[in-house]
Amino acid sequence: MSQDVAVITGSSGGIGRAIAKVLSEKSSGELRLGLHYKGNAEAAKALHSEIPNSFLIQADLSTSVGRGALLEACLKEGNPYILVNNAGIDKPHEPALNIREDSLDLILGVNFKTPALLMRDFAKEMIKSGSGVIVNVSSILAKKALTGSAVYRASKAALEALTKQLAFEWGPKGVRVNAVSPGFIETAMTETIGPETRNLIRQEIALGQFGAAEAVALAVAHLIENDYLNGAVLSVDGGMRL
Ligand SMILES: NC(=O)c1ccc[n+]([C@@H]2O[C@H](COP(=O)([O-])OP(=O)(O)OC[C@H]3O[C@@H](n4cnc5c(N)ncnc54)[C@H](OP(=O)(O)O)[C@@H]3O)[C@@H](O)[C@H]2O)c1
Repeated sequence: MSQDVAVITGSSGGIGRAIAKVLSEKSSGELRLGLHYKGNAEAAKALHSEIPNSFLIQADLSTSVGRGALLEACLKEGNPYILVNNAGIDKPHEPALNIREDSLDLILGVNFKTPALLMRDFAKEMIKSGSGVIVNVSSILAKKALTGSAVYRASKAALEALTKQLAFEWGPKGVRVNAVSPGFIETAMTETIGPETRNLIRQEIALGQFGAAEAVALAVAHLIENDYLNGAVLSVDGGMRL
């Protein structure tokens, strides 16, 4: 029987890297991990060297060629059992009156269209083999207004709606679909936030600080492990929307 594979998109980034490490530790190396990256080969190779039962996949997932390559690589290595749609972008930040058409295409493309099409294609394989688990990485901003984040918010809200729809349609076929909703997490995505804005944001978080990528990774692992979770959106935000 071929080995179960877990693919993590954007594993070269802060949260993706943490998810890969936690899944590897929790499976005691049993799970074969597909470490996807787009441009940051250095970070991806460093992670690959830390996770013995893993393989690298380079792909721009905003293209059909890139998405096809991801699935092909996974099928070559084993049985696609877990898909974590983590790759995402939050820029450009544009006030709603100045949103450009190409920004809409870019952000909705990477954050919504890409996971939607990957889920369609991976789920077909999962249903063939009888089971699978998908976790989408959403954001607190799916439910919270922040000037400059209109398109990002819409992309993540759409991803959450799709998560629930697919959980409904595919649950009966053995595929669970859940999402994790991080608050403000210390990664490259948030490192450009200046000290003043950072302080204002911290004041809105009950725990008073940005979170670590590992906290999100542990929530992803929980959504995978708990076999009665389906269509759930789990917040990991230190208590920000209370
Ligand atoms: N950090 C936060 O506070 C926060 C909060 C809520 C939600 N999130 C979500 O968490 C996820 C991970 O974010 P992060 O903070 O870890 O960000 P990050 O460190 O900037 O990582 C982003 C990842 O996405 C990949 N990526 C970007 N565009 C891509 C494309 N066209 N095709 C394929 N891969 C692409 C990057 O690949 P390369 O670097 O290899 O090019 C990188 O691995 C995102 O979905 C983000 O929206 C983050």
